[in-house]
Amino acid sequence: MVKIALAKGRLAEIAIDLLQTSGYRFPDYSKKSRKLVFEDETKTISLTFVKSMDVPIYVEKGATDIGIVGKDILMEIEPDVYEMLDLKMGACRICVAGFPNTKIQRQQLVIGSKYPNVAKKYFQNQGIKTEIIHLNGSVELAPIMGLSDVIVDIVESGKTLKENGLVVLEEMHPISARMIVNKVSLKTKGKIVETLIETLREETKNRYEDC
Ligand code: PRP
Repeated sequence: MVKIALAKGRLAEIAIDLLQTSGYRFPDYSKKSRKLVFEDETKTISLTFVKSMDVPIYVEKGATDIGIVGKDILMEIEPDVYEMLDLKMGACRICVAGFPNTKIQRQQLVIGSKYPNVAKKYFQNQGIKTEIIHLNGSVELAPIMGLSDVIVDIVESGKTLKENGLVVLEEMHPISARMIVNKVSLKTKGKIVETLIETLREETKNRYEDC
């Protein structure tokens, strides 16, 4: 059996839909269930629901063979895994955001972010000194509450920024969901993992014609 780690939420819904279209059905699965592990009818795949930031850890350590996770999290954690496939879903951008009149200059910038490593690296490359405040959510509050000058966060529709009076100041990187694979699993479960990758690659192509 191939074990897949993914995080509950919108990405999981699309991923399960993708797997179901590819022929893997999870009869016990429902959004509301509090169960954390689900097997498909043929017992080929098991899905394990973990926190999104933990997906790479489960895969790197071999607790699961595969993970489905956003590129933002891979950029932050830089796990020792193979990134095999861009699933195109969950498309968004990682951005620097703040109040419209904020100037990003070569001063000491205070940054609020769920992605401290990504933020640090981005500004370090530009020679800008930073103080990073690691937050776990509702990051938009940081400039509003005077905690930081700017934030580094993912922007999807832009609604959260807009409703809080903030704007994108710089676009850093496009983001989408990726399939990652444990390095040992690719050898030991190669055939089944590769079949799964090919199936999802085909289905992704069918859904997102421009890939
Ligand atoms: C994410 C992100 C932004 C928001 C962006 O937060 O951190 O706050 O979504 O989406 P939008 O551009 O479509 O408004 P999430 O919903 O994961 O909640 P969190 O603040 O608790 O992390």
